Amino acid sequence: MTEYQAMGRALELALRGTGKVSPNPRVGCVILRDGEIIAEGWHDHFGGMHAEVHALTSARSSLDGATLVVTLEPCAHHGKQPPCTDAIIATKRRPDGTLDPERGIRRVVIGMRDPNPAAGGGLEKLQQAGIEVTVGVREQECWWLNRFFVKHVTTGKPYVIGKAAISLDGCIATRDGASVWISGEESRRRSHALRAEVDAVLVGRGTVQRDDPHLGPRLVRGKMPRRIVLDTHLRLAPTHRVFSDSHRMRTVVCTSPQAAVTSTAELLKRRGVMVLPVPLDEKGRLSLAAVFDVLGEELLVSSVLVEGGQEVLSGCVADGLLDELHLFVAPMLLGAGIGAFGRLAVESLSAAPRWHYHAISRAGDDLHIVLFPQRSSA
Ligand SMILES: NC(=O)c1ccc[n+]([C@@H]2O[C@H](COP(=O)([O-])OP(=O)(O)OC[C@H]3O[C@@H](n4cnc5c(N)ncnc54)[C@H](OP(=O)(O)O)[C@@H]3O)[C@@H](O)[C@H]2O)c1
Repeated sequence: MTEYQAMGRALELALRGTGKVSPNPRVGCVILRDGEIIAEGWHDHFGGMHAEVHALTSARSSLDGATLVVTLEPCAHHGKQPPCTDAIIATKRRPDGTLDPERGIRRVVIGMRDPNPAAGGGLEKLQQAGIEVTVGVREQECWWLNRFFVKHVTTGKPYVIGKAAISLDGCIATRDGASVWISGEESRRRSHALRAEVDAVLVGRGTVQRDDPHLGPRLVRGKMPRRIVLDTHLRLAPTHRVFSDSHRMRTVVCTSPQAAVTSTAELLKRRGVMVLPVPLDEKGRLSLAAVFDVLGEELLVSSVLVEGGQEVLSGCVADGLLDELHLFVAPMLLGAGIGAFGRLAVESLSAAPRWHYHAISRAGDDLHIVLFPQRSSA
C-alpha cells in the first residue's frame, strides 16, 4: 500500500468520529511497515484518546522503521490528552531515555497542518527528534473533513451551510407555503446525512409555524443535532414539535433580550428548551451574525446547517454568512411560489452574490449542487 492509499484509509477511519468529536477535529491514523498496515486509530469521541495514540497502542507488530500516516498534524500541547508528538517520539527512546534513530516511528506523513494556534509546532518537534516528516498528502480532502473545526478554531464562529430543496425555477414552496415534499427520497437522505454531521440545524419561525419540523437525521444513523429556532418575540406555540417532543432538550430558541425574560421563556426553560437572548439588528430582527457568534462562542457549536425558510436563507446570503450552500433541485416548476432567496434585494448584476460550483451530482431524480461563495477581495 502506498502512503497516498494509506491516507485514504486514515480519512475513512476519521469519519468514525462523525457527530461525536465536535468541536474537536475528526482525525484518522494508520501505521505502515513494509507497505502493510500494522495499526489503525481514530479520534472517537470528544475528550477521548487521539488517533495517533490509538494507533500506536494497537500496533500488531514492532514499530521499528514504521511510517505513521495521519490526517492532521499531531498536537504538541497538553489539552484533554497529552501531546501526540511525545507519544510518537517515545517509540524512539532507549530504556535510558535517549533517542535511537533505528527504533520506533521513522517517518510521519501528515495530511494538513493544525490551524489551532494552541496546538501547533508538532511538525517541528518531530523533526527535532530526527523523524522525517512530509506534509500535504491529500490535503484538500483532509481540509474538507475538518472544515468545521478549521473555521471554529481560527475564528470562534461556526461553519455555516445553507440548504434548500428547490424547484427548477428556484422555489422552496408553493405560493401558499406547501413544501412537503419538493425533493425526492435520496435528496432527503442526503439532507439527513448533513444533519447528522453538523452540530446544529437552524430554521426561522415561519418554517416551524408552517411545517412543524422534527429536524433530526431520521433517514440515516446519527445523533440529533441541536435545533436552533429564530423567534424574536417568542410567538411560536409551545406545542410545536421542537418544543414538546422527546428531543426538546436539544432545542435552542434565539430571541430578543426582552422576550427572554417573559413567562413564555420561563415555560420553555422549564421544559428543558434553552432560551438564548441575542441582540437585534437595525431592522428589529435578531442579528444573524450575533446568532452565529453566540452559538460558536457560548455553546461551542462548530457547524450549523441553515434549512430555511425564505427570510432566513435570504438574510444569511445578504449578510455574507454562508460558507457553503447545498441545493437539491427537483425537476418541477412552481411558478409564482416562494423563491428560496426571494427576500434578497439585488440592485444590479454587479451586486449579485456569486458562487462557485463545487460539486454536482444526481440524487435520484433531483440534482444535488454544492456551492461555495465567491468572496469579494475588497
Ligand atoms: N424547500 C425547503 O427546503 C424549505 C425549507 C424550509 C422552509 N421552507 C418553506 O419556507 C416557508 C417559510 O419561510 P419564511 O420565509 O416564511 O420563514 P422563515 O425564514 O422560516 O422564518 C422567518 C422568520 O424568522 C424570524 N427571524 C428572526 N430573526 C430573523 C432574521 N434575522 N432574518 C430572518 N428571519 C428572522 C422572523 O420572525 P419574527 O420576527 O417573529 O422573529 C421571520 O419572520 C414555508 O413555506 C416552508 O415550508 C422550505
